[in-house]
Amino acid sequence: AMQDVILLLLSMAVHVVVSSLLRRAPPFKEMQTRLAAAKWALVRDFSAALRQDVVVTDRVTAHHLLVRGGAGGAFCNRPPTSAASSVLSRQRHHNIGSAPYGPLWRGIRRNLVSEVFHPSRLRVYAPARRRALCGLVADLREQCTSSNDGLVLAAESIHAALFGLSAAMCFGDGVDPGRVRAMADGMEDLIRSLVGLRVFAALPALTELIYRQRWNKLVTLRRQQEEMYLPLIDARRGLLRRPSGEAPTYVDTLIDLLVGDDNSASGAKAPKQRLADGEFVGLCSEFLGAGTEPAAAALQWIMANLVKHLDVQEAVRSEIDAVVGADAEEVSEEDLGKLEYLNAVLMEALRLHPTVPSVARQVMPDDHVFLDGRRVVAGTTVQFPLERLARDETAWAEPDKFMPERFLAGGGGSGVSLVAAAGSAGEIKMMPFGAGRRMCPGMGVAMLHLGYFVANLVREFEWTEAEGDLAVHLEPQVGFLNVMKRPLRARLALRNKGSAVAELYLYYFIIWVKLV
Ligand code: HEM
Repeated sequence: AMQDVILLLLSMAVHVVVSSLLRRAPPFKEMQTRLAAAKWALVRDFSAALRQDVVVTDRVTAHHLLVRGGAGGAFCNRPPTSAASSVLSRQRHHNIGSAPYGPLWRGIRRNLVSEVFHPSRLRVYAPARRRALCGLVADLREQCTSSNDGLVLAAESIHAALFGLSAAMCFGDGVDPGRVRAMADGMEDLIRSLVGLRVFAALPALTELIYRQRWNKLVTLRRQQEEMYLPLIDARRGLLRRPSGEAPTYVDTLIDLLVGDDNSASGAKAPKQRLADGEFVGLCSEFLGAGTEPAAAALQWIMANLVKHLDVQEAVRSEIDAVVGADAEEVSEEDLGKLEYLNAVLMEALRLHPTVPSVARQVMPDDHVFLDGRRVVAGTTVQFPLERLARDETAWAEPDKFMPERFLAGGGGSGVSLVAAAGSAGEIKMMPFGAGRRMCPGMGVAMLHLGYFVANLVREFEWTEAEGDLAVHLEPQVGFLNVMKRPLRARLALRNKGSAVAELYLYYFIIWVKLV
């Protein structure tokens, strides 16, 4: 009987231990999912490091893969990124651009599109846009009147104005201008370093050891961002009520945002969570960087082309004068829809100089990407070089020439839409904002900023080319972005836009004198 009791107690103990172990062990399916994820991470990292990219230069194939879902599967992932948040958090913290196609990406992208860039929301940032424009005009005015030949370094002023605008939309008005300047400098430094930092996109544990100096640079840049952004983020968190009349900032929309967790093996069923501080910093960095840098580069390309083609500049000005009238204070945002020729100029400059040089996707195990009849191996990066795609002779007459008229009614570019090139009769003729589900969510706001700034800069000043070393060269420097090799300088002359009003006053004055 004693033996029986011992056996019974032993079997009970074994039962308790085994069942508690079983309870703690992840279910078989979850183990399988985790194993598959770990295996894929290895394949993905080694592919990114060792496998050659596939480059798609044929626009029909680009359309088939990116827009029509011809790839089978989602084909919506980017290759591993060198974004500081993702690298330093070992792929746990993502921004929109770096997030894998999944619940986190959906949540943070939807937030940006509907809470910040929805047209009704965008309208409330109009005063910030106006302030940025007035600051830029005042800065250029000051430069051109204080130099005896009207020479200005437009590149710096343009960058400062657009960065200030992004910072106001991100953190709110009233951030100390010195702090905004420091953030802008930090961003320029980051963009300059990004090409070198690409080595950390894959196998960071290894590359960290090999490229020590670059790693330290990445860590320093990130720490500086944390020091600059987190106090501003905390200030927004601490606000009980927003100052009356102030638009919600990007940070405000992120504070209460709940997002799905990509890392959870049980997927979408896991409870949604608030964003971590690391994600906040990464998302603000993306908002400031993606929201400013390609647009600042595009604004320079546009103005550079207008300096080179004075007839086009004059045509933009005549259209504005006809639509807006000489006595209006500015070209307002509402006027932009009526300025067809201005829009054609923006389109043509974006076609010739897409400031994001290339769009990339990575083939996932579920994607079925076929090229030349062969399936592309999972892990491979597929690149779509944007300038090449937009200078295709089968799509454009004289593709290397700057001819905005082509976008007017009857021209080869009339009806071309930027939205995933979907309007262009089932083909891609240009895609400066990318295409498909991952195309740029900032396209609308970028076009608004470009139109508003170009229109007013042309109305305020006459832009001409300086001589010699200061001349405008339409030569690109392609790194992380496609920027002008020589930052834009030009000679500016103030336009007497109120002359019509002055003439009218003079006319009345003369009549009055005669009458008296
Ligand atoms: C002239 C200005 C701009 C240009 C040329 C541009 C271009 C692009 C391109 C080519 C892509 C890749 C799209 C793809 O993979 O198919 C992209 C993605 C992105 N852009 Fe822009 N962009 C501009 C302005 C902006 C602005 C103002 C914002 C606002 C914050 C922004 C935020 C983003 C984000 C978050 C992504 C990643 C989207 C995703 O992965 O879902 N961009 N942009």
